[in-house]
Amino acid sequence: MSWAEIYPWQAPRPEGPVIRQVYDQVRDAIHAGALKPGGRLPSSRDLARRLGVARASVVAAYDLLLAEGYAEGRPGSGTYVCGDLSGVLDLKAPRIAPDGPPPPPPAGVLALDGVALPPPEEGGRMFSNGRTLMDARALDAWAASTRRALKTLDPVHFGYSDPRGEPRLRAAIADYLRAARGVVCEPDQVIVTSGAQHAVDIAVRVLLRPGDPVWMEDPGYAPTWHALQAAGAEMHPVPVDRAGLDVAAGVAAAPQARLAFVTPSHQYPLGVTLSMGRRLELLAWARAAGAWIVEDDYSSEFRYSGPPLASLQSLDGGERVIYVGTLNKALFPGIRLGYMVAPQSLSAALAKARQLSDRQPPTLTQAVVLDFFESGQFAAHIRRRRLAYRAQRDALVEALRAKLADLVEIDVPDQGMHLMAFLKNGLDDVAVHAAAAARGVTARATSPLYRKAPPRPGLMLGFTGFPARSMAAGVARLAEAFADLG
Ligand SMILES: Cc1ncc(COP(=O)(O)O)c(C=O)c1O
Repeated sequence: MSWAEIYPWQAPRPEGPVIRQVYDQVRDAIHAGALKPGGRLPSSRDLARRLGVARASVVAAYDLLLAEGYAEGRPGSGTYVCGDLSGVLDLKAPRIAPDGPPPPPPAGVLALDGVALPPPEEGGRMFSNGRTLMDARALDAWAASTRRALKTLDPVHFGYSDPRGEPRLRAAIADYLRAARGVVCEPDQVIVTSGAQHAVDIAVRVLLRPGDPVWMEDPGYAPTWHALQAAGAEMHPVPVDRAGLDVAAGVAAAPQARLAFVTPSHQYPLGVTLSMGRRLELLAWARAAGAWIVEDDYSSEFRYSGPPLASLQSLDGGERVIYVGTLNKALFPGIRLGYMVAPQSLSAALAKARQLSDRQPPTLTQAVVLDFFESGQFAAHIRRRRLAYRAQRDALVEALRAKLADLVEIDVPDQGMHLMAFLKNGLDDVAVHAAAAARGVTARATSPLYRKAPPRPGLMLGFTGFPARSMAAGVARLAEAFADLG
């Protein structure tokens, strides 16, 4: 690929030899990397037209470049930048010499210490978390929705649009959330985001000032923890037990917290459900303290057994709860689309913050998703995924019971995209994580997700991204990792 088409070629100055000026420009373009080694140079006719010079001048300049080893001719095909330029220039050499020591990192950089970017190869590895599978029917339906959306998209949608998302999509999401999650909302409370993480970030920006006390589940979802920490919040890790967040412990530690972050349907990472008693306690505290609750309902679509659960937001009537959901799990993570439902009193402020952070969601993707919803394909996809993911969960449980029953205790979750395998015999989960990585499988250790509470060593095993038939082989590799530790 070459950027010669859009390179800012300049007409030669009237003074000085034209051939030399053409030669200099082409050589500079090679040095700048706009013309890559092995890439085709513009034809002499084309370059002459762009520069407004005689074609013979370009041919003469190319001859010079050929003679110096910058270019090579290929009979019948044209002139190319030489594939090996090591003889004529050092492409890696810094162009500007560094001037003294680098400046000290600004505070914003320091606040991001501890945030780890995910290793690129982890995505496809067995048991990585939060992965999804689109079956052939979903892919066909997606392609049809894309075609229809492209055909019918109003030209206005190729421009700037509502930062909160397309009104029809917001109405469809509000409908879906009322039906599926009991969420109390009108379309004007829905803000389309790039996902749950984006929604959390917007909530943090609007609801917190540096130094504000905040409750966060312990253990909890690390990116939320980091977003809060980077915003300068005073962090109060609140322990989680079999009934979910221990509200009494939160009240004892920080009664005046401004905000509590919770994953009530499927606590991340432990997978427990926030009990009804605790839900009521949490809402009562928030009302009395004037605090806000962010309900991260990141995997609500995938409930396999047990009684259906309504959202925390539905109990509150949408007064103090900011509800967060995502299509990055319901469909696929690369789609980067999610939503938040704002209490009426906050919806304008959250929409403004969304506009400042990312202007608006992508219009084409929204149109495709709207078609997917309206054609009934979304509901059908979720129904099929629930069945498939439950079978995948069961296959994983069976393989773990067959191979690793002596070493792990499994919590079979009613919901979600991963299960917890707690380690027996005092095994170290971080060591198992490392040994598994060396064997090419991802078994994320949970101890590093604990802040104050005593860690219970365990592994998070994602099952949604991998077919049921692959589970036994994945578990066999995990068993080898355990064996590597002796
Ligand atoms: C608890 C929790 N919250 C938020 C997210 C982020 O979701 P999204 O991809 O929609 O930003 C994840 C993703 O794994 C998650 O597990």
